[in-house]
Amino acid sequence: MLKVLILFGGVSTEHEVSCVSASNVCKNIDKEKFEYIKLGITKKGVWWVYNGSEDKMADGSWEYDTENLVPAVVSPCSAHHGIMVLNKATKTYEIIRVDVAFPVLHGKNGEDGTMQGLMKLAGIPCVGCDTYSSAVSMHKCAAKIIAETVGVRTTPFVRLRKCERDTAVDAVKSLKLPIFVKPVNGGSSVGITKVKSLDALEEALDVAFETDDLVIIEEGVVGKEIEVAVLGKDDVLASVCGEIVAGAEFYDYENKYKDDTAEYYIPARLDDVVAQTVRKNAVEVYKALDCKGFSRVDFFVTESGDVLFNEINTIPGFTAISMYPKLMAECGIPYSELITRLIMAEAE
Ligand SMILES: Nc1ncnc2c1ncn2[C@@H]1O[C@H](COP(=O)(O)OP(=O)(O)O)[C@@H](O)[C@H]1O
Ligand SMILES: [Mg+2]
Repeated sequence: MLKVLILFGGVSTEHEVSCVSASNVCKNIDKEKFEYIKLGITKKGVWWVYNGSEDKMADGSWEYDTENLVPAVVSPCSAHHGIMVLNKATKTYEIIRVDVAFPVLHGKNGEDGTMQGLMKLAGIPCVGCDTYSSAVSMHKCAAKIIAETVGVRTTPFVRLRKCERDTAVDAVKSLKLPIFVKPVNGGSSVGITKVKSLDALEEALDVAFETDDLVIIEEGVVGKEIEVAVLGKDDVLASVCGEIVAGAEFYDYENKYKDDTAEYYIPARLDDVVAQTVRKNAVEVYKALDCKGFSRVDFFVTESGDVLFNEINTIPGFTAISMYPKLMAECGIPYSELITRLIMAEAE
């Protein structure tokens, strides 16, 4: 049986979402094919093997479930090919070999190439994108620039470093209001503000710079929000399009995870030709960013049918209600089989 290391939590603004995603992966992983170890990382960056229940992972109480927590780390030594776990009786660390790691981590310190780099050093095959493609995909400016090189359009944007802050009003002069101010390396809408008047720019920058030293400021797009689930490496599968209708001013954190006001349409309410263009662009972006494993590629489609790339998520939300697994299910790949495919794509 293959031994899978499931990483969850993380030092990230998307910590809580990761716990829910990972809990669902554990509940649905094929237990006849895989054994799994849950390695949780607290928001402060403390690592534990967690032997308790998957419900406690989801609601965040796992990190207080002390009798089920064992200190552990991933060993960067590739001869170990696994984790070092404290034996509480002998007070020594034991090495447990693992076959594959599945980082079910969202955002910083997990989806941005850092964990992928550690796995590379450790010699442990890792589900999803490698270090480079994770980092470049997470970087909202870099991902857009690369998308444009393969003919995929994006909305006009500028970038602003924290040290250039006093030039902000000048920097956004070329953009039509409303504009969106976002941390470049962020997720789950944390740190994002829709700015309708330049009077609100300073506050939006304060919020975005809390998450990152680099912000992207984009022209707001009026249109449908469309997401495509992409799976694979050499043979790439693009799902049908999914559509999100935000229940708020935009698809913000509350709207994504807390209230129940967003609406979802699978398949998206798009003309067939436009839907094909979105799917084709999703694959183009995925390949241009050297992605493998899986990613969700997000677009806007305007009233006149223009398709604009917004962002890519290399470890998309994996909760029971998340778009990625729903889109794959629509393509005939149920959640459990999806997990198997992702792991088996990396198994040596
Ligand atoms: N340029 C834009 N025009 C219109 N809406 C936008 C724009 N950028 C972001 N949004 C809204 O903000 C949400 C979050 O932005 P996104 O770039 O997807 O960041 P995150 O990585 O946090 O999900 C989007 O789902 C959308 O509702
Ligand atoms: Mg998004």
